[in-house]
Amino acid sequence: MELLCPLCGEKLEKRERAFVCPNRHSFDIARQGYVHLLPVQKKHSLAPGDTREQVLSRRAFLEEGHYAPIADALINAAKKYGADGEILDVGCGEGYYCTRLSDALGLPLTGLDISKEAVRCAAAKYKGYTWLCATAAHIPVPEGSVGLLTSLFALTLPEEYKRVLKPGGLYFQVLAAEDHLLGLKSIIYDQLIHKEKDSVPNLPGFARLESIPIRFDFTVEGEQVQNLFSMTPHVFRIGKDGAERLRQTERLTDTASCVLNVFRRE
Ligand SMILES: C[S@@+](CC[C@H](N)C(=O)[O-])C[C@H]1O[C@@H](n2cnc3c(N)ncnc32)[C@H](O)[C@@H]1O
Ligand SMILES: [Zn+2]
Repeated sequence: MELLCPLCGEKLEKRERAFVCPNRHSFDIARQGYVHLLPVQKKHSLAPGDTREQVLSRRAFLEEGHYAPIADALINAAKKYGADGEILDVGCGEGYYCTRLSDALGLPLTGLDISKEAVRCAAAKYKGYTWLCATAAHIPVPEGSVGLLTSLFALTLPEEYKRVLKPGGLYFQVLAAEDHLLGLKSIIYDQLIHKEKDSVPNLPGFARLESIPIRFDFTVEGEQVQNLFSMTPHVFRIGKDGAERLRQTERLTDTASCVLNVFRRE
């Protein structure tokens, strides 16, 4: 996919170890093969996005295949709706879902994440794809250059997604449903608070074609209990008692429950 300079918006040209623009802004290609396109001005913290620990937990958990039904649902929907062109995965994390999607469809993939640790981990394992450390708020690709944009348990920024998608392009959004991981939640919280969640949103500039529920049970044991916990937003909310109960949990059978919203850019 064509890349744009995050400083001046001009086209980037690939050299041996860097991408450069006509205004001589230069962006190194890291040893692992990803490109760092996040200028300091657009960073709101020193190390934005997921931490190394979160990334490694997610990798260890996903690699065991517990969430394969989510990857399968993405592949089936992409085939059903005739996805074509280039895939862009926003908030790609360590790359599990998007590389499977790209391989199954035979379409080129660019993965983008604001976390350097995430793209480093993705690029180190998955070769033959483009990995960008960049922000979803300013995606460094030309307008209309994406055929299928995905955001899986990640941000929804309809205006920017609409800009980079070609007319008629697809947007796949995976959101956790209200009853996602109730087993884990009942261990870590004293009380389960019911929160209204809009997992089937309407987005300006997009037509929603279908909302596909994805629901399945899985079991984790030993270290994987902690890995599952570390890849959820609950890491930021857990209290002392909850953390202790989690430490004592040797085995957990839980239900993953999410929604795949299929949108078409108008
Ligand atoms: C819950 S994780 C999901 C990762 C991956 N999609 C998955 O499901 O395995 C959310 C990801 O969004 C990334 N992220 C957060 N803010 C971002 C931003 N402004 N731009 C790009 N990525 C961002 C985080 O670093 C993290 O990797
Ligand atoms: Zn430039």
